[in-house]
Amino acid sequence: MSAPGTREAEVLVVGSGIAGCAAALGAAREGAEVLLVTKAERPEDAATDWAQGGIATARGDPESLKEDIIAASDGTADEEAVDVLVSEADSAVRDVLVETLDVPFDGPDGSFDYAREAAHSEERILHVDASTGEHVLRPFLNYLDDHDRIEILEDTAALDLVTHEGRVYGAVLDTTPDGEPAPAGEPVYAGATILATGGIGACYGRSTNPEGATGDGIAMAALAGADVADMEFVQFHPTAYAPPEGDGNSFLVSEAVRGVGAVLANGEGERFMPEYHEDAELAPRDVVARAVAREREHTGEVVLDVSGLDFRAEFPDLAALCDEAGVDLPEIPVAPTQHFLCGGIDVDLHGRASLARLYAVGECARTGVHGANRLGSTSLLEGLVWGLRAGADAAGKPPETVEAPELLDRDPDLPDRFAAEKFIRLQRVMDEYVGLQRSPDGLRRAGAVLRRLKGEVDAYVRTRTSRSLYELRNAAVTALLVTRAAADNPESVGCHHVVEDEQAEAEATAD
Ligand code: SIN
Repeated sequence: MSAPGTREAEVLVVGSGIAGCAAALGAAREGAEVLLVTKAERPEDAATDWAQGGIATARGDPESLKEDIIAASDGTADEEAVDVLVSEADSAVRDVLVETLDVPFDGPDGSFDYAREAAHSEERILHVDASTGEHVLRPFLNYLDDHDRIEILEDTAALDLVTHEGRVYGAVLDTTPDGEPAPAGEPVYAGATILATGGIGACYGRSTNPEGATGDGIAMAALAGADVADMEFVQFHPTAYAPPEGDGNSFLVSEAVRGVGAVLANGEGERFMPEYHEDAELAPRDVVARAVAREREHTGEVVLDVSGLDFRAEFPDLAALCDEAGVDLPEIPVAPTQHFLCGGIDVDLHGRASLARLYAVGECARTGVHGANRLGSTSLLEGLVWGLRAGADAAGKPPETVEAPELLDRDPDLPDRFAAEKFIRLQRVMDEYVGLQRSPDGLRRAGAVLRRLKGEVDAYVRTRTSRSLYELRNAAVTALLVTRAAADNPESVGCHHVVEDEQAEAEATAD
């Protein structure tokens, strides 16, 4: 029984990227009534929409895709999870993306052009130009919008989970835009709650993620007592455009560009990747990212040279971005930039978290598929496959109510400056000490600063409420989880690279 005025949903999905959409679809196909909420003002403002790289398929050879995933992960990916991914890849792509959504993947007359990207041993990736994510997400959202069992609420943030004795009963939602003097929290009671809140890019100064990637789902789940895992495995993309100092606008230069022959050259005009790895520019992402960082440090800059391909014809969207940024083609200055969290809320093969009735899918989840380093073009696929699985599993559980946490009234006078200043401090610490390489001493320093910062934020959260304050709290919790996990793992593996304190200090002095 619910109190008058309280809202209920059989399945509550938080997040509107491919994983959230697939979860909503999976649940609705099982007959569930679904409420999908997103804090974005436009549901398409999700990381999926920004995805340039495509979606990997198995192309009838799941074993080969499995081998590449496990090799890219430095042998750390969970085999059982990878088996699920590779065996369901082709059917999920065909069923949802091709037959249901009619995504116009590149290729002539209804056939597909399969591309190759770094660390893939075969051509098996589907693209739509260099804006695959947008061409997947927009039709997906339109399809869900027309579905009679799915309701989508935008500009609606989940602030906290409603929990009781190890079980999740829904979430408290912030239904009004930041800064408005209205009650801040409305509980929605759900039979199952699926978090699909995306990544943690806002914890770093530069990221390929949209601004809203503040680690919300991970922080809410962790604060509610759910297990998280592999948080130290933060992936940096090797080739984001590096704008001149002082101009903040960066964008991803997809791995697909290296897949068709672009090469990396250092400040002395020399190609360097063959010295670092036998697969040169097509080595796993963590290897290329560290090599690019090192060459930038030693020679001043690194460029991606696209003179060996017909860049404008093959990547018109990227060429337009380069023109807008004033890039002097054919050389695109690049730098490693935070891109993806391989860890997250620990889930099983159906997206079930350690708390009853809680699920997580997409980047906020740790399925085990990526291990310590993700193979390119597997994130859309993981979101699709786990989203469908979690949605189907979550259906059929009637909502029940318990007492929801009381949230404080919104404080219209809360200075946004508070959150902005703290965010800058948090990002600086993460960039300096918890970036591409970490040292024990750096991680200790980061932990101390972040604990202090979280204490200051918690003091604010106890006395007032605003959406940006919750985002800051979530980013602080998430940054601390990353830092602690990194400090607890002394072994360099995949994208977690540990150096001695002396080396970190020598490099800092050389800067
Ligand atoms: C890229 O296009 O290089 C990024 C794709 C991905 O992260 O999977």
